Amino acid sequence: MGKLAITGGPKAVDRAIGSPWPVYDDREKEALIEVLESRKWGRSGYDYYNRAGSKLWEFERAFADFHDGKHALAVSTGTTALETCLRAIGIEAGCEVIVPACTYIASASCIMVCNGVPVFADVDPRNYTIDPKSVETLITPRTKAVVAVDFGGMPCDTDALGEICRKHGIALVSDCAHAHGGQWRGKGVGSHADIAAFSCMPGKVFAIGEGAIVMTNSEDLYEKAFRYHHAGRDRGAQSREFTWPATTLRLSEWEAAIGIVALTRLAEQAETRWRNVRYLADGMADIPGLSGLDIDERVTRWNPFCWHFKFLSDEFEGIHRDVFRKAMNAEGVSVGLGPTEPLYRYKIFAEGEWGETGCPIRCPLYKGEMDYTKVHCPEAERIHDTEACLINHKFLLGPQEDMDLILDAMRKIRKNADELRDIDT
Ligand SMILES: Cc1ncc(COP(=O)(O)O)c(C=O)c1O
Repeated sequence: MGKLAITGGPKAVDRAIGSPWPVYDDREKEALIEVLESRKWGRSGYDYYNRAGSKLWEFERAFADFHDGKHALAVSTGTTALETCLRAIGIEAGCEVIVPACTYIASASCIMVCNGVPVFADVDPRNYTIDPKSVETLITPRTKAVVAVDFGGMPCDTDALGEICRKHGIALVSDCAHAHGGQWRGKGVGSHADIAAFSCMPGKVFAIGEGAIVMTNSEDLYEKAFRYHHAGRDRGAQSREFTWPATTLRLSEWEAAIGIVALTRLAEQAETRWRNVRYLADGMADIPGLSGLDIDERVTRWNPFCWHFKFLSDEFEGIHRDVFRKAMNAEGVSVGLGPTEPLYRYKIFAEGEWGETGCPIRCPLYKGEMDYTKVHCPEAERIHDTEACLINHKFLLGPQEDMDLILDAMRKIRKNADELRDIDT
């Protein structure tokens, strides 16, 4: 029996840490009853453009104000929010769209459902977000947009990305699914891009059930997004006035009611997580082999969805990262991997089954060539295979004593690392 829990010793953390998630109180219950009794359960069920008494209009306005955006549109999921963004900016067959290799599938599949071709950029090893230098090398005459993901909630360098996009006349889309409440240069994430998508599904740092927000400062993109989510009707159109092939992605009033209340907690939750991850990173400074991500000074608030930190095997007695994760889990601290697997390794890209026309990747309208089996993003691969660890945001909502317990577990494992030598990944 060793000292570490994984070798039979006592756990470093033997109580729950963080906070149950999602958070709610009586205000959500009251808001839901209000919707129930109003009989206004969704936009289609009453006068569509009447804002009076509508939780959806109120939620959209409050969300946009919170993130310094002009317009917000509530839609059914983060995946369809991204698709709505790409439809609004005009992605279609033949277009290439650059996206980071490390992200959730929706950041790339939204391109393919518009018949575009995802082109994978490497990530910056300092903070795991899309590397603007890699983006620049991938631009071709077919490139129409960059989907930049605030990965783990860390705001991307939208200054550099914006400059590249302006120089080449292409659109910048922010996938803010992980990043609600974050700020870059004092302004909300998403507000620096042409258009942005925020998933609000239950696991995210801002949870309303299912649902998402499309946010933009452009009147034109807002109108196009609106039309796309409302079966192809322009805003203000009559019920049979369809002008665009589109779909229906309207959200219900229930989620909006939850969202209005949840927004009142977002700033405080973001500050708590931001304070805790700085405390953890400072605390790790005396643990060889562990370190936090580099935080650009233009990041004025990071609301981590997954708090990524680095495991450096060479400085941790050659132990494999996944053995360290196993040992942390045994000590009572859940340490995961997250969506760092380079997407081009997924079956859909490596052995993609395209339709009979070959679209989107072998589409006759696509004039480039794309073979995902030849794509190689060295930093993304190294980070996924050996380095990245993560702690979920709900564990970051606890008091400082909870962070001390996480650090205790890390120190204990570091001190007794020799017990991990014979443990398999
Ligand atoms: C980066 C990223 N983008 C988009 C999405 C899609 O959001 P949803 O699950 O609400 O469709 C997710 C969800 O996990 C995500 O992690």
